[in-house]
Amino acid sequence: MIRTENLTKVYRMGEVEVQALRDVNLEIQDGEFIAIAGPSGSGKSTLLNMIGCLDKPTSGAVFIDDIDTGKLSENKLAEIRREKIGFIFQQFNLIHTLNALENVALPMFFAGVGRETRLKRAEELLAKVGLGDRVDHKPSELSGGEQQRMAIARALSNDPEIIIGDEPTGNVDTEAGNAIMDLLEGLNREGRTIIVVTHDAEIAARAGRTKRMRDGKVLD
Ligand SMILES: Nc1ncnc2c1ncn2[C@@H]1O[C@H](COP(=O)(O)OP(=O)(O)OP(=O)(O)O)[C@@H](O)[C@H]1O
Ligand SMILES: [Mg+2]
Repeated sequence: MIRTENLTKVYRMGEVEVQALRDVNLEIQDGEFIAIAGPSGSGKSTLLNMIGCLDKPTSGAVFIDDIDTGKLSENKLAEIRREKIGFIFQQFNLIHTLNALENVALPMFFAGVGRETRLKRAEELLAKVGLGDRVDHKPSELSGGEQQRMAIARALSNDPEIIIGDEPTGNVDTEAGNAIMDLLEGLNREGRTIIVVTHDAEIAARAGRTKRMRDGKVLD
């Protein structure tokens, strides 16, 4: 389970303070598929970054499986990010000099998986997202939807329990967006927790529940 407790994030830009999150209390059960919607600047990405342990709150806490992540060392946090959480971003964030197989295998390298195992698993994951015949393509040699599916394969490389997507369908057309949602639904049926930020009501409607944000708050 993921639980935030009075989660607050203030960005300080010189003299100016931006209150990106204000006392957010949110519970996400294991195996849930939750969508987060809300206007630009309402704090959606900030919330995902906190839940994904990519950034630290100003005050309040994020609990993952009852562990207060704010109390963990940098090493332990990196381990949680690597082993429990898979990230998918709107801009894909793939490495352009590496082909699909190498991109998907890379997180396994950092997790200490041997070369043969990681290449085999990368191949299986690319097949799973429908890119079995694109393993040697670089990101620039793939369509937007294919690049995002490559990013999903990469997010799965360390078999995470939680998948966090920040507008994963934001840069692809409707058809490719639906294919990405089909994949995420399949991953949810495997028991994984899925948290997706989206502007698209049709996409949000496919999640188990939707939470709306406004001005750094999660609305009821
Ligand atoms: N690194 C940062 N430094 C300073 N201010 C930031 C930073 N990141 C976000 N903000 C501010 O925090 C607020 C929340 O930003 P956030 O990116 O979480 O919004 P969002 O809901 O994801 O918006 P969008 O839908 O446009 O992606 C915004 O006012 C933004 O300008
Ligand atoms: Mg955002």
